[in-house]
Amino acid sequence: MSRAKLDSIRAAGPAILPSLLQCDFGDLRTEIEKLNVAGTRVLHLDVMDGHFVPNLTYGMPIVEGLRRHTDMPLDVHLMISDPVTYAQPMVDAGADMLTFHVEAVEDSVEVAGKIRDMGVGVGVAINPDTDFAKLDCCLDSVDMVLVMSVNAGFGGQKFNPVSLDRLRSLKERKPDLLLEIDGGIKAETIGEARAAGCDLFVVGSAIFGQHDYETAINELTQAMHGSPPSAGDQS
Ligand code: DX5
Ligand code: ZN
Repeated sequence: MSRAKLDSIRAAGPAILPSLLQCDFGDLRTEIEKLNVAGTRVLHLDVMDGHFVPNLTYGMPIVEGLRRHTDMPLDVHLMISDPVTYAQPMVDAGADMLTFHVEAVEDSVEVAGKIRDMGVGVGVAINPDTDFAKLDCCLDSVDMVLVMSVNAGFGGQKFNPVSLDRLRSLKERKPDLLLEIDGGIKAETIGEARAAGCDLFVVGSAIFGQHDYETAINELTQAMHGSPPSAGDQS
């Protein structure tokens, strides 16, 4: 764990980050190998507490287990009500980037500072229905903004285009800030998000709903660079 991994995450962009939410948790080692072969450079981990969002996933043991099997940076999306309590245990487990939700905390500047002091990258996430101005005060305190293009909590939801305006606005105001998008990213939406200035594209269903991850990631990469999805594309 160190902020050096933040440089690897930056250097990977523009990049597709598979979201470990709809993967085969019974065979995580094989899943990671398949993603590695498919050219993945950063993994996105969706941590949900059944309180901040009405869904429950996993915590430190899975992060720690993944850490033992891969050198890839682990980008941990904390969809939890109390990110401060769990931040240090997540760092100890091997997280390289911790993203908390602006909706979950009273003082986003303070939370960002605490996470930064733990020696990892820090991101702030915002749901589509949240007042965008809530981010203003903490933009100088974070390494990354995660613009949610669905309400956090579940995979397979429909892309909300308000996220594109938000990406454009952030890119204009803070050109050096790392920008990530999460939710409903597939061949039909990834190109617009890239054009809006996004660096990191979190993808769940459009990879894990496909038989061949490598083909899925290649098609997404082409679409990210502006090629329209090919006929017969199932994403
Ligand atoms: C949703 C999660 C996402 C999710 C995206 O709350 O943060 O990372 O896995 O899934 P898709 O790509 O299916 O929208
Ligand atoms: Zn996520």
